[in-house]
Amino acid sequence: MKKDTPVVHHLKDYQTPQFDIVSVFLEFDLKPENTNVTNVMQVKNLNHASLMQLDGEDLELKSILIDGVDITQKCEQTAETLQIPTAGLDTFELNITTSVDPQGNTALEGLYRTSGNYCTQCEAEGFRKITYFLDRPDVLTLFTTKIIADKADNSVLLSNGNLIESGELENNRHYAVWQDPFKKPCYLFALVAGNLECVQDTYRTLDNRDIDLRIYVEPKNIDKCDHAMASLIKSMKWDEERFGLIYDLDIYMIVAVDDFNMGAMENKGLNVFNSKFVLAKPETATDVDYEGIEAVIGHEYFHNWTGNRVTCRDWFQLTLKEGLTVFRDQEFTADMLSPAVKRIEDVKRLRSNQFPEDAGPMSHPIQPQSYIEMNNFYTMTVYEKGAEVVRLYHSLLGEDGFRKGMDLYFERHDGQAVTVEDFRNAMADANNVDLVQMHQWYLQSGTPVLSVKTEYDSVTKKLIVNCSQNIPKLADKFPPLLMPIKIALYSDDGNILPLHPYEGDMEKIVVKGHEAILKLSHKSESFVFEKIEVEPVVSLLRGFSAPVILEYDQSNEDLAKLVTFDSDSFVRWESIQTLALKEITRNIAQLESGQALELSNEFTTAFEGVLKDSSLDNALRALALTLPEMTYIGEQYQQVNVDAVYHVHRWLKIQLATKYEGLFLEQYLQLNKLNEEYHYQKTDIANRKLKNVCLQYLMLLPHQIKLGEQQFNHSQNMTDVLAALDSLSHTDSLEREACLESFYRKWKDDALVLDKWFALQAASHHIHSLAHVKELVKHPDFVYTNPNRVRSVLGVFGRLNMLGFHQPDGEGYHFLAEQIMKLDAINPQVSARIVAPFTHWQHFDGERQTLMKKALQSILDNDNLSKDTYEIVSKSLS
Ligand code: ARG
Ligand code: ZN
Repeated sequence: MKKDTPVVHHLKDYQTPQFDIVSVFLEFDLKPENTNVTNVMQVKNLNHASLMQLDGEDLELKSILIDGVDITQKCEQTAETLQIPTAGLDTFELNITTSVDPQGNTALEGLYRTSGNYCTQCEAEGFRKITYFLDRPDVLTLFTTKIIADKADNSVLLSNGNLIESGELENNRHYAVWQDPFKKPCYLFALVAGNLECVQDTYRTLDNRDIDLRIYVEPKNIDKCDHAMASLIKSMKWDEERFGLIYDLDIYMIVAVDDFNMGAMENKGLNVFNSKFVLAKPETATDVDYEGIEAVIGHEYFHNWTGNRVTCRDWFQLTLKEGLTVFRDQEFTADMLSPAVKRIEDVKRLRSNQFPEDAGPMSHPIQPQSYIEMNNFYTMTVYEKGAEVVRLYHSLLGEDGFRKGMDLYFERHDGQAVTVEDFRNAMADANNVDLVQMHQWYLQSGTPVLSVKTEYDSVTKKLIVNCSQNIPKLADKFPPLLMPIKIALYSDDGNILPLHPYEGDMEKIVVKGHEAILKLSHKSESFVFEKIEVEPVVSLLRGFSAPVILEYDQSNEDLAKLVTFDSDSFVRWESIQTLALKEITRNIAQLESGQALELSNEFTTAFEGVLKDSSLDNALRALALTLPEMTYIGEQYQQVNVDAVYHVHRWLKIQLATKYEGLFLEQYLQLNKLNEEYHYQKTDIANRKLKNVCLQYLMLLPHQIKLGEQQFNHSQNMTDVLAALDSLSHTDSLEREACLESFYRKWKDDALVLDKWFALQAASHHIHSLAHVKELVKHPDFVYTNPNRVRSVLGVFGRLNMLGFHQPDGEGYHFLAEQIMKLDAINPQVSARIVAPFTHWQHFDGERQTLMKKALQSILDNDNLSKDTYEIVSKSLS
């Protein structure tokens, strides 16, 4: 059947469902190419409707019965719907039998096979690829699931809730029946079957119930589950302590699969995870992997309350569960490791990924108003900017006020499918405040620019902070946002100054200790502090208290001071980043006007200070010594000169490496003596981080390449091995080839480690990197059907390989476009992600713009393009 032309779905068209599916009984007779699904629903016709329209895609229809009577011939079927006559029926039993082909399902949505096992992915609209249903999050149903399968290939049969029955059948088959006591939307349904083993533990809840915890993996991975299990237990404890939220079923299962479109999925009681976010041991996983596992395990666990117990009314409310749950996982990671480091890392991620998205053609508010393919809206904006907006409530209301709001939210909405307004009302009502203005954050796209000017009057001893906000692309056409701006003032020598707001400003300045929050609620507004005895050094936007681009012209002297004494780690880091950024942009201008590049003392003094300051946390030092990412540098320009950014960035690193070779080496050797045995522990992580930053600088000097080779050969943990190999991968040396070769030989059978090998080469700044990447997709271990492998080559290439992707002759664009078309036929969701780097074409120079648009057009010209890729490409060309 031909696919319908892409339909645009609008928030304004939302209508409440006409039918309630009170309960459903599903029976799966699992066979690789032909799985029969029997679906028995108890339905209530809420508005005496004469027609029930169900969603369904790629299903082979066998029969439809209403109250036992075959009505198959009376129903109408289209490519994406099934219409059932229901006139005169108030309550009825609907029995639909269909069949699907899990083996042929390479899109990895619905029921599919991975490593010979069965698994499902339903969010957002994948349940309709399993059976006909009202596939929308506001239809909540009680699920009972019977799974029948061959015993030899499927020792384990899992679904949501509790196991209520199991047994043997003829022909070496067996079955299991699972029942979920909680009503849920179908996007939270899951089924897993296969030959898996599990590690088990128990968690005793705050209300003294023992929860059976299980992590299911392929037998060969059973030694890599300890960290995931420890993370799960920490998450459960943290949610009880911080939010008073207790787990509600008797069993919690996590399954790790190798083929998965995203990170993980919070299906009720049965999370399905990309194995990347479960499996770890020191020899195979880096600190970043360990941290990712802890965060994603936490994230999915936290969804049990923010997402599952209280879910979304429709998909336009996605940020209601995702923004909130990301905020929760950020707070969790902060508490487990270092709040300061976590905040800086999150700001970096936001700036390098979400800001560009919000500046490009796919820019959308955290509550999008329309979509063609919902899967395209699982974005940095909905997730990360959404989390920043939740953080605004937290900043405005404080920890206690925020908790009161959360408590009221659950009290009011447990078991419901709700909206972002319901969340805001709970926050407002619990605290007796008006938060209506907060809604603008849900409606507006584009990163706001916050401009600040400060004036100090030495006669009246007043400091005036003039703030104004703007969203450039909207000019004046937007109502102002409510922004909490955190501020502190310092004397020249680093003493924090007491704050006395001017009386008339008491309402909009909230002082807490030596810090204040300026509540900016107008386009332009001034805030006045009195009794400031000396001209202060201003510490602004502390903790990155609002997701904005800050324009504040601070002198290099003040920035340098903040680097040495600010008690707010974010501002301290931001100040040295600003100095570095000024250094880089100044030199880009030099390069463009044909002048020599030069290093300034202002920057190197600050840099040297951090390098020598052993009182500072090593993780923060590592962050401060890392130059701004090239993408972030690029964002400073309307049109970026790729070659100049790359050149100056590299030049500055080499200057620093040369100037401070001695200090880097001393620090490196000192840290290299530590950490014999790997522990995932705060100080050890910090030490490895700083050590490897030093190594990165040193490896830019040809005579230090041996250092990387030594570290590569002698380290036992993947963090250090990979850091060394990463530095080597950018060199043009024999050591590079030898180490890449030996890494491959050692790890070729471990998919997750091999992904790292592919990714390093796809990101390499080696002069022949494009040629290398072209070879990589021909490598016997490269498979288009595995999303992790595809992302580690094609995703990394487009996102991180500035030189290769943006090669001036357009060959990088041509190559990636071809790959995308090939991939689109196999897995549209992944293909639509890989296309993202093309969408920023307006950000590059004229010649590159033309070439990028040409590549996009060649994709769009494809007859059989998926709606996923179609939506991204067509929107970015219009
Ligand atoms: N809800 C999942 C999570 O954030 C992600 C689901 C993503 N689905 C998708 N089709 N992209 O935990
Ligand atoms: Zn989530």
